[in-house]
Amino acid sequence: MGKDVIIACDFSGKEETFAFLDQFRKEKPYLKIGMELFYAEGPEIIREIKKRGHQIFLDLKLHDIPNTVQKAMRVLSRLDVDMCNLHAGGTVRMMEAALEGLTRPDGSRPLLIAVTQLTSTDQESMENDLWIREPIDRVVMHYAENAKKAGLDGVVCSPLEAEKVHTLCGNRFLTVTPGVRFCDDDKGDQKRIMTPAEAKKIGSDYIVVGRPITAAADPVAAYRRCVSEFVD
Ligand code: C5P
Repeated sequence: MGKDVIIACDFSGKEETFAFLDQFRKEKPYLKIGMELFYAEGPEIIREIKKRGHQIFLDLKLHDIPNTVQKAMRVLSRLDVDMCNLHAGGTVRMMEAALEGLTRPDGSRPLLIAVTQLTSTDQESMENDLWIREPIDRVVMHYAENAKKAGLDGVVCSPLEAEKVHTLCGNRFLTVTPGVRFCDDDKGDQKRIMTPAEAKKIGSDYIVVGRPITAAADPVAAYRRCVSEFVD
């Protein structure tokens, strides 16, 4: 499992997505497809992108009763995605069921990664809305340990949490980290950020990069810069 840059394809439709991908002539970047694009275009877009030779992280963040998640994961396993995810808040039993559903008859399966607490949740909303009264960093680490206990491959986390997750769950437990910006970038709505070079230093396994690449004047050059800072 190598370190890689995953481009967040936060596009609303197929035309925009393929116009973006057509700019990449030499490279076949790893892509993250989220709810918006998947719900707009359906599974067919996954098949088309796979046909073009990209690896796909399907970011649908499942969270339901174990039986439903298991059956949904079985469907996703047939789509030949390379990575997918769920909410660790669905319990260890739900994560175990997801893993069972994702495992194909030949024993192979996509990587399965857990979301711990969304970065849009802060201490205040966690306490007031969710009634979880522990410090948020302890909650994130506890959920990461639960994901490991369930047999998952890693977590989505802030680059600032990656080192702690590795200390707690081991270096082979993957950290997939959004919130990446070049040192000369506008931060946008991301608050807790790191550059690709810093993310490499603290041991992130995959960085998820959206706007610094998709909104760049030259997306291919921006992607190459990310790869050279993070991977090479
Ligand atoms: O454009 P930007 O680089 O901020 O995109 C980051 C991507 O990672 C988006 O698709 C966003 O939804 C996703 N993400 C995130 N923070 C999380 C989980 C996912 O920014 N905690």
